[in-house]
Amino acid sequence: MEQNIINESKRFVLKREVCHLIKSFCDLAASVCYLERASGFQLVNKDYSLEIVGEGRSAYVFKVRSTKFAIKVFFPPFTELANEEAEIYSILDGNPYFPRLYEAGSNYLVIDFIEGQTLFQCLNKGIEIKNRNILGVDHALSMAEDLGLNPSDIHLRNIILTSEGEIKLIDVARFRQIKNCSQWEDLKKCFYRYYCKWFFPKRIPVAVLNLIAKIYKKRQASINVHD
Ligand SMILES: Nc1ncnc2c1ncn2[C@@H]1O[C@H](COP(=O)(O)OP(=O)(O)OP(=O)(O)O)[C@@H](O)[C@H]1O
Ligand SMILES: [Mg+2]
Repeated sequence: MEQNIINESKRFVLKREVCHLIKSFCDLAASVCYLERASGFQLVNKDYSLEIVGEGRSAYVFKVRSTKFAIKVFFPPFTELANEEAEIYSILDGNPYFPRLYEAGSNYLVIDFIEGQTLFQCLNKGIEIKNRNILGVDHALSMAEDLGLNPSDIHLRNIILTSEGEIKLIDVARFRQIKNCSQWEDLKKCFYRYYCKWFFPKRIPVAVLNLIAKIYKKRQASINVHD
């Protein structure tokens, strides 16, 4: 009896694994369901083969289990960003600093899953960010500029330090916006002025990082109003 139950559950797991291999990316994206709440969008459903890897202001990003693909599924008010971001990834195609785009739908993108930690996670976990990583981001941004793009929204959660110690940039939806964004230059200043110094703490709690980001955004908003 017990053996039967074990065999049954093994068969179920196997069926589930095989099923997700034959599901299309479109089916997987369609399985994602969001509910709008006062605090933002809540994920209420997703296929078993989708594993949450991150959440931003406009989407959740999932890893497709047993593959090297990530699917970014946009929240309903942001679906037009799927097409914009897909076009920008096409311009960047082949650039080693950015994930490759494989498929785009009306509300989703399929890109390389990047194994690593965002710079936000690095700061929180005490993973050292090196000068050569900063130079890597600078190089990636100048390559994007050479392609006629205007890289914007370059913040700690949009930069990944891979397990091999390389830099990858994600979230390129705002790379064609007109107004200039000083976030990366400001982050760089903080790196050289504070982070580099021996006395600066290398592990920072999430609450402190979020507070600094909040104060920074408020300051930026007031500067924009006065411009
Ligand atoms: N290709 C990827 N590989 C691994 N993790 C990823 C990938 N793309 C996104 N992530 C994770 O998911 C998070 C959210 O993704 P993304 O930045 O694309 O969403 P967003 O809603 O556009 O963000 P933002 O709030 O910056 O506008 C990222 O901060 C990162 O942790
Ligand atoms: Mg982002």
